[in-house]
Amino acid sequence: MASIAHQPSRLLRASDIQSDRGNPHWTRYPGDRALDAIPGTDGWPLVGTTLRELANPKRFARAMVAAYGPVYRTRSFGQRSVNLIGPDANELVLFDRERQFSSEQGWGPILNLLFPRGLMLIDHDAHRIDRRALTVAFKPEPMQAYAAALDRDIAAGVAAWGNGADRFTLRVYDAIKTLTLQTAATCFLGLPLGPQVQQLNEAFTAMVQAAVAPVRRPLPLTAMARGVAGRALMVDWFTRLLAERRADPGPDMFSQFALATRDDGSLLPAAAVVDHMIFLLMAAHDTITSSFTSLIWQLARDSMWQDRLRDEALAVAGGAGAPLAYADLARMELTELAFKEALRIMPPVPALPRRALRDIDFGGHRIPAGTVVGINPALVHSDPQLWPDPDRFDPLRFTPDQIAARHKYAWVPFGGGAHMCLGLHFATMQTRVLAHHVLTRYRLSAAPGYEPRWQEWPIPRPRDGLRLELRRIC
Ligand code: HEM
Repeated sequence: MASIAHQPSRLLRASDIQSDRGNPHWTRYPGDRALDAIPGTDGWPLVGTTLRELANPKRFARAMVAAYGPVYRTRSFGQRSVNLIGPDANELVLFDRERQFSSEQGWGPILNLLFPRGLMLIDHDAHRIDRRALTVAFKPEPMQAYAAALDRDIAAGVAAWGNGADRFTLRVYDAIKTLTLQTAATCFLGLPLGPQVQQLNEAFTAMVQAAVAPVRRPLPLTAMARGVAGRALMVDWFTRLLAERRADPGPDMFSQFALATRDDGSLLPAAAVVDHMIFLLMAAHDTITSSFTSLIWQLARDSMWQDRLRDEALAVAGGAGAPLAYADLARMELTELAFKEALRIMPPVPALPRRALRDIDFGGHRIPAGTVVGINPALVHSDPQLWPDPDRFDPLRFTPDQIAARHKYAWVPFGGGAHMCLGLHFATMQTRVLAHHVLTRYRLSAAPGYEPRWQEWPIPRPRDGLRLELRRIC
């Protein structure tokens, strides 16, 4: 087995990787010792570098780059891995022209028990076939239907904040999360809000919490056991809903998935539709909540940009709280720049894992086949060489001339290559609808000296929910 590490032309297969925990994704690849040649540290006995990394992921990564350079080795979460930092590394891993990396085997240990066979958890030809089939759900016609549903639900949800008070304090993250769960029910699944949706939300929340729980087996009373039970409930529920949607499709995304066909014209199998939908809910939910919350935080601190975006929203839709037509969205250009800048400062997916399928030479190092490899968008997004004064909120970094002058992989909040976020236009659309309704109804500000603490990993969120003052303006 170890010899695989020295045969660059030999492609590693899942069967080459030895399992040491009964789960093919929790592996200790025998070529492990070949990693000794890569600079880095194994950290403390047992816990390795896990605690240092969890305490402050970005500071830890920065310290590792300072000590060992942009290719460094760590031992977190029970395995050694190699981190590749910089835009060239992002391009190598994400673009992956040679199919040298496995996303399935990178994300598998984290997601496979709860979100198996989602798009990020399949590779190469199998991935290409299903991704092409699902793309139908993001074409202009269904997107227009989603936009109408989002606009209706978000307008109602945002108007109800504060129960009609002129001034109130809002935990912004929590309010956006609630709204996003509601719009997921109506827009993704085509379900009216009610007790059924509440039950689904609870099952889904248990799954998301289990995905990052320290105990990785569904032992009684653990978060993982609750997550696995939540998955069983959702699979059962979605399988029945699928039959209904195939018989009587609606304008929701699940109906699009239900009728999606592969290249040979066959419908996606029922189990695949269910797996893809459950995965998509997970991929969409906390990412949108995190990114819109961080945008709002930047705008609460920067009243000039808040006013600019409000003026744009008013001009585009013709009034405060007015319905936003699909055609209006494309005209919210400043909102788009500001959203991109918020995604730069706080990318919702701060780091991305893969497994090398063959030996890879990069940055003067040989990374053996089987190695878990990570890239770190959050660190690259704050590199002062690429982004002068990186902590400053400056949406004008994303004007076309500025973008053209930068490395294409310096900004990768949505990833890139074959696995690039399938929902990025949806996320952009939902952000514009949210920005329109929030900013035209309320002026937002933070109490003097207020500085929320952010939990960076796995998806950034303010620990206190982000407490802002909202003043009603319409
Ligand atoms: C601001 C919000 C979002 C961010 C920052 C984001 C980020 C990402 C990233 C970085 C990846 C690639 C991961 C990798 O290559 O390892 C990804 C994949 C994916 N995202 Fe998003 N996402 C967002 C919203 C959404 C939404 C709203 C949806 C669905 C409506 C969605 C659906 C997906 C799917 C299906 C994949 C897997 C694609 C594939 O493997 O082919 N995402 N996302």
